[in-house]
This record gives sequence, C-alpha cells and structure tokens, in this order.
Amino acid sequence: MTSQTLREARKYEEASEKLIGKEERPDFHLTPRTGWMNDPNGFSYYKGRYHLFYQYYPYESKWGPMHWGHAVSSDLLHWEYLPCALAPDEAYDRDGCFSGSAAVLPDGRQLLMYTGVLKEHQERDIYREVQTQCMAVGDGIDYEKYEQNPVLDQRDIPEGSSRFDFRDPKMWMKADGTYACVVGNRPADGSGQILLYESADGFQWKFKSILVSNHDRFGKMWECPDFFELDGKWVLLTSPQDMLPEGFEYHNGNGTLCLIGDYDEENGSFKEMQNQSVDYGIDFYAPQTVAAPDGRRIMIGWMQNWDACGIRSPEEPWFGQMSLPRELSLKDGRLYQRPVREFDALRRNKIEYTDVAVSGVVKLDGIKGRKVDMELTVRPEGGQELYQKFAVRFAQDDTYYTSLSFRPRESILKVDRKFSGSRRAIIHQRRSLVNTADGELKLRIILDRFSVEVFVNDGEQVMSAAMYTRQEADGISFFADGTANIDVVKYELE
Ligand code: FRU
Repeated sequence: MTSQTLREARKYEEASEKLIGKEERPDFHLTPRTGWMNDPNGFSYYKGRYHLFYQYYPYESKWGPMHWGHAVSSDLLHWEYLPCALAPDEAYDRDGCFSGSAAVLPDGRQLLMYTGVLKEHQERDIYREVQTQCMAVGDGIDYEKYEQNPVLDQRDIPEGSSRFDFRDPKMWMKADGTYACVVGNRPADGSGQILLYESADGFQWKFKSILVSNHDRFGKMWECPDFFELDGKWVLLTSPQDMLPEGFEYHNGNGTLCLIGDYDEENGSFKEMQNQSVDYGIDFYAPQTVAAPDGRRIMIGWMQNWDACGIRSPEEPWFGQMSLPRELSLKDGRLYQRPVREFDALRRNKIEYTDVAVSGVVKLDGIKGRKVDMELTVRPEGGQELYQKFAVRFAQDDTYYTSLSFRPRESILKVDRKFSGSRRAIIHQRRSLVNTADGELKLRIILDRFSVEVFVNDGEQVMSAAMYTRQEADGISFFADGTANIDVVKYELE
C-alpha cells in the first residue's frame, strides 16, 4: 500500500522532471529527478542492475523532509529514474527518512535500512530530532515499511550516547548469510563513534560493540559510516562534521575520513592503522560503496559540500549531484580511487599530444569541451631548471575559468573555482599535497558540464569540485612559469 504522501511525491516528480532539459544536467553523474539531493543511499546490486537511492526532497531545490529518490543503471553511468522509494509517512519517521543502505533477503526481496526521524518537543518552541533505525522490504520499485519499526532505538545504544545523533545504518550480508550494520552515533564526549549491530534475519538487530571511537580527533559527530574488506584489510569510511584542518590532510567543516586497519569479527573490534581524507577537493561527502558482482568495491559520494551549498541558487530546478563511481583499492597503506572501468566506453575522438613545451600560455588545437576525459603528464623540460608553476585552466572563456595549478617545489596541487561564475563568498579553493618525483605529475581530469574530478598519480589523491560556469565557456589552456613539458591524451565523453 503506498501512502498518500508517497503517491503525491511520485506524481510531482514525474511531472516536474519533464521541465528539466537534458542539457541542463550532467550526462553521467546522477542528479535528483527534481528538487534536492544529498547523500547516496542503498547503493546496491539487485536483480541484475545497480540501484542507487538518495536523500531527496522533490518539492524544492533545498533540503526538506527527506524522502528516498531512486535510480537504476547497468553501467553505473547511465541512470534511469524509478519512482520515489520512501516518503516520511509513518508515525516514527514523519520528519524524515534519513540515510541508509540496502541488502537482499534469502527469498529474493530487497531490504532497506534507514533512519527514521521524529521531532520531539523539548520546551517552549524547541524541538529535537529523535533518530531510530527502520526497515522496508520491496521488489526493486515498491517498498513496504516493516510493521515492527523501529528496529533499533535508544534502548540499543551504549549508556550516555545520544538518541538525537544515531543515524545512517550501512548493512551488509556476512559470509554465513547473517547481517551486520554500522551506525553513526555521538557518545557523551560530544564527538563521534561507530556502533556495530548484528542480525540473523535482517529484522531483529542486536548491539555488538562500539567499533570505533573518535575521542575528539577527527571532527565531531561521525555521519554515514561504511565498513568493508578491501585487499586484505578493513576500511571504515565516515563523514565527520565540524572538522578542524590538519596540515593538508583534513580541512575545516564537513570532511571525509578513511580509516584502514584490521577487524576482529568475533569480538567486533577494529584496530586502526592508517587514516586519510577520502577526497581532497571542495565537494565530496557521505560516500557509500557497493560490492560489484565481479568483486570490485565501488564508491559514490555526494559531490557537494554542506558549507558551500550557496554555490547554486535554490531557484534552479535541481540541486546536488553524485560523484563518478570509483573503484577502490589499497596500495602502500593508502586508499586509491579510479573511475570505474565502465567509464572508458564513453570515450570518443581521441586527440593526443606528446612532449609539448609549455612556457607562458599555450592552447592546443582540439583541446576543449565540458564533457572531457583528459590525461595529462607534466614534467620539467630535459636539462632545464625546474619550472615554478604549471596550471591548466578549463571551463574557460573571456570571463570565466576554473584552474588546477601545481607548484613542484612545494608539491602542492590547487583547485580554484573563484572565477567560475560564482557570486557567493564561499570556499572556492583547496590545496592538496601530492607526490612528485623531480617535478613530474600525472593527472586525469574529468569534466561533465557542472563538475571537475581530478585523479592524481593514478588515484593516490582525488580532488572533486562542482562548478556552474555557463556551458559556452569550454576552453582549455595550459600555463607554465618556466618551461614544463606535457603529454596530453584527451577524449570527448558521450
Ligand atoms: C549527511 C546527513 C546524514 C543524514 C542525512 C539527512 O549528509 O546529515 O547524516 O542521514 O544527511 O539528509
């Protein structure tokens, strides 16, 4: 039985979607069917297709009572919208269906786990959101909420922990066919912790352990955890709120954190070994992964920063986009990311230049566009002194551009969208320390109308940023202070 609230959302999105032209969206990054999108939810492989749900408010291009939008794809790049999957329509979730995940039941039905939000009156006009974990079951299109929701509430959290910050369950099926999930929570110290729960059937959940405690190190509340095995280690991804910067590793505000370590499944304990940011650009948050049928671990994030939402006017017909799906691997104790290999099939019209000397500004015939995949290798010219700075500008015309600039002596790569057309005083630049041997650097730059994603040195770092420069600005140019030599391989994307 679909509720009135869900029926209305479905009717509304179907009509509103028609008002958005194809050219007004990116080609291969998912945007909301209409209105607002934040976190990816329920990223899964079900009945032969990838499913991606998302935090969704269809009625306006700003955050509102959360629904779950829904799309499916067979290649992770071309998405087809399905009807809105969840709406805030029950007594326990009437203020929002927050982030969550998906799994498959033994009988073949799809199981969703999400956070139900209910505002509780405190005093005078003060309300606080109580958060509980809830289940829904469906066939890949329609979902029925479980009659015994919520399945986890304040009785299931450690003493002193907050029932107001208890959200974003990410579940998975274990090798023995039972289920586990991690949930973000806030203990008495006010920072974050990740709670681990187990379930034999996917409906009855039991607290297992505090998997990881922040102890006030990385930001405050930890949102949107994900936990999985990768190349012999275990990886915890989470998105901390209220970060303080630490060198070039973590930046202020809402960040992403990757902990790499060992997991003792028996007693539910995690031994941290390494930590790093997931993305070093401006816009990336709340990533979630899926295990592909061929064993790859694929991650998608919300390509947006909460603090920089002002970059796009709420008058626009959609807000928020997903990142490219990225294949994850571990190398030398670091998380590496590369665009999913399916992406290579979109490449058309290769143009290649080898060993071009750049000194001052250089433009190359055929190198332009706003849907572009460009591999770029920079190095000092043989026998010459190391260049001071190298830059590539894109989404460029006489007024606008966004740039990547690299200073080899400092090993710092910077993304800067100050001149991208934004009229808002929000963050427009970010720097990342990168590895370079004698001024050599390898970049893969992917543009899709409203964004740039830069994969540095085969995915050792990634920098992502949204940019809403007018599409006519499609120039690309290179610059060096000193002399740098570049190899360029550029494709259009279809
Ligand atoms: C993260 C987040 C989640 C929450 C959702 C609400 O971006 O704050 O913790 O479930 O967004 O839309």
